[in-house]
Amino acid sequence: MSDLPTFVQGLPKAELHLHIEGSLEPELMFELARRNRLDLPFRSVEEVRAAYAFGNLQDFLDIYYQGAGVLRTEEDFKDLALAYFRRVAADGCRHVELFFDPQTHTDRGIPFAVVADGLLAGMAEAETSLGVGSGLILCYLRHLDEDAAFATLRMAEPYLDRILGVGLDSSEVGHPPSKFARVFRASRERGLKLVAHAGEEGPPEYVWEALDVLGVDRIDHGNRALEDPKLVERLVADGMTLTVCPLSNLKLCVVDDLAEHPLKRMLGLGLKATLNSDDPAYFGGYLGRNWIATADALGLTKAELVTLAKNSFTGSFLPPETVQARLAEIDAYASSSAYSQ
Ligand code: ADE
Ligand code: ZN
Repeated sequence: MSDLPTFVQGLPKAELHLHIEGSLEPELMFELARRNRLDLPFRSVEEVRAAYAFGNLQDFLDIYYQGAGVLRTEEDFKDLALAYFRRVAADGCRHVELFFDPQTHTDRGIPFAVVADGLLAGMAEAETSLGVGSGLILCYLRHLDEDAAFATLRMAEPYLDRILGVGLDSSEVGHPPSKFARVFRASRERGLKLVAHAGEEGPPEYVWEALDVLGVDRIDHGNRALEDPKLVERLVADGMTLTVCPLSNLKLCVVDDLAEHPLKRMLGLGLKATLNSDDPAYFGGYLGRNWIATADALGLTKAELVTLAKNSFTGSFLPPETVQARLAEIDAYASSSAYSQ
């Protein structure tokens, strides 16, 4: 008999919603502060962790942007990425499409190239030494204006052959997707995939806008889509992938209890949901913990776990032949595993 953690660990899976700056553990934060001769407003790792009590998304973002201030050099970004990849390799993750927030760094004088070169170096090493492949998604910060997003797209120009797509993150309410219609169109014209956070705290209208105004390829979160049956119908008809983040939703009070999380309901409605960690250093768990805690709380069946794993690849931007190979591996693994639930 295989238990849930063992079954989940061996299940081939991808992570499609991960902010690399959100994987900065307090220990690394202190190490980078020392290396870069910076003062932190905390005296210990325990004090940092104690500050991670959030009432909503903005509470978290304030501390997340402050934490990112210790990232200064190419080596810092490479170390950050590698620390994350070591954690998810142990969780049986095979592919990651990771977000980064260049404006958080360029606005404090760190060149775009330092951020991108450091992350790309970490990603290349993770592929060779850990067997975890990855792609980069550049996120525009939605609390800033569209001109700032255009300036970021111009900075990214020399790197566009190494960037999968663009996303939209940060404070959602009051910053609808339509605010970024022109820069998303320009990004699409450059051959980039499009994703956007929508329906995390924002209303169903923001999800409609992400679909109809931005023309996204994936919705990040999408929880509040469930309030609108017509929207659910549309998402199902489009086969639209939702990158759902249960432990994040719990920590940011999007749900009060993991047992009330809508993930199982989403699968039941035919929505193409995936399971992800969002900002694992802040929300109490990497990919594996999200899978196990959610499966436990919602009583996810083996068939549902297999569907989630398959969705993580069919919802990815991997080439179709790689997706097919991973689906075959998932089927072979599931049929050979003694896990039953
Ligand atoms: N940036 C990092 N994590 C985020 C989240 N969960 N929502 C919006 N912006 C973010
Ligand atoms: Zn996110």
